[in-house]
Amino acid sequence: MLHQFLKKRSITNSSDVWGYAKTIIPGGGELISKKAERFLPGQWPSYYHKAKGYNVWDLNNKKYVDFAQMGVGSCIHGYANSKINKKVISSIRRGSMSSLNSYEELELAERLIQLHPYSSMARFARTGGEACSIAVRIARAASGKDGVAICGYHGWHDWYIATNIGDKENLKDQLLPGLDAAGVPKNLQGSTYPFIYNDFDGLEIIKENRDKIGVVIMEPTRGVKPLPGYLQKIRELCNEIGAVLIFDEVTSAFRENNGAWHLLSGVDPDMTVFGKALGNGFPISAVIGKESVMNKATLSFISSTMWTERVGFTAGVANLDLFSKQKSHEKLVYNGKKIKEAWEESAKKTNININISGLDPLASFKFLDGAENVYQTFYAQEMLKENFLVGSSSYSCTVYSESILKKFNKKTLEVFEKIKFINDKGDKVENYIKGDLIKSGFKRLNS
Ligand SMILES: Cc1ncc(COP(=O)(O)O)c(C=O)c1O
Repeated sequence: MLHQFLKKRSITNSSDVWGYAKTIIPGGGELISKKAERFLPGQWPSYYHKAKGYNVWDLNNKKYVDFAQMGVGSCIHGYANSKINKKVISSIRRGSMSSLNSYEELELAERLIQLHPYSSMARFARTGGEACSIAVRIARAASGKDGVAICGYHGWHDWYIATNIGDKENLKDQLLPGLDAAGVPKNLQGSTYPFIYNDFDGLEIIKENRDKIGVVIMEPTRGVKPLPGYLQKIRELCNEIGAVLIFDEVTSAFRENNGAWHLLSGVDPDMTVFGKALGNGFPISAVIGKESVMNKATLSFISSTMWTERVGFTAGVANLDLFSKQKSHEKLVYNGKKIKEAWEESAKKTNININISGLDPLASFKFLDGAENVYQTFYAQEMLKENFLVGSSSYSCTVYSESILKKFNKKTLEVFEKIKFINDKGDKVENYIKGDLIKSGFKRLNS
């Protein structure tokens, strides 16, 4: 059954909407991670009208099992989670906006502070990138120095993208190759100092620029875990040079443990940033930290109408309550391991070389041997025929059942076997791909 949206525009297929979108939204959409070009150009359904649990229905009302990224890592408790929705809907009924503040903001601040004993204050925003920008602003105000050392991805804002002014490859190892800094003020060139994760020698750049660097912001983990002593070394370095240490846990928090991942490392930052999983898909992000640093927010102007809206706080509180009650991290880790197992076993049985990385709940894999994007496209195409949405990473959720994990394992093996069969008969997998190959790199993804 065609959705009204398609009927009204005389479009017959959900996958054709992406082309239409590009005529009225530059680049097609708001998030690079949802672009059809990243998953399956020309075939990816791209738009949905309903999502529940681990299922998504496209505009042709076709039902899929989502093993792609569960709302780009935001929906750890599944889509439209009934318990969280109930609280959110109640807050909407009672008015999601007013001239007064929402008390749920204080409840969420209390929850986060309780989970992270070094912190005593919180600020909130709606997106991860916004919250990182808030943290950097406060940290600059606290340290009195403008320079920011960065490691990882921290959003789209000027202070971060300025890294690529003058050299489009400066963020190649943190984010994407070839990312253009068009529109970012040129005089921000040189205001950031990128360093490579787990490279002890690379920390020299921070020491050498100790007079300029007042902020070190980094993802404490993501693809790999920190080497022994690495985070400790950065902590000591920040103390030594008088820089504020921010852990950006927009993606890593609430995956392997109840709270920010760094709680497992024993190293405390001065501030921590949360987003993604905090609201189970509802818009809410947070910055928490030590009072001595966080209070410097009052010296600066950091203010926005929609940061006070009630739904985000309500969802955050309900989501964290559910997380604590269910010990959700145990299920996230278990299901993430099962996903990795499916890739690993399929690769072993078919002698196809892959590399698996990431925290268990943030699992990624990569085909090796030079066939990466051909095999990846074929994998997404063949899994789509079985009504599975897949990509090169799969972010775990608590609602995957044993039976759906088994089915994912079986279907993944079948696709790997097809690749082996095609190769064994001396044919090329590329010949079996209907649309374009998946794309990587900023220019090709963003057009
Ligand atoms: C570590 C990290 N920081 C910041 C961001 C930006 O968050 P958002 O996309 O919500 O602005 C992301 C998003 O992927 C992220 O992974």
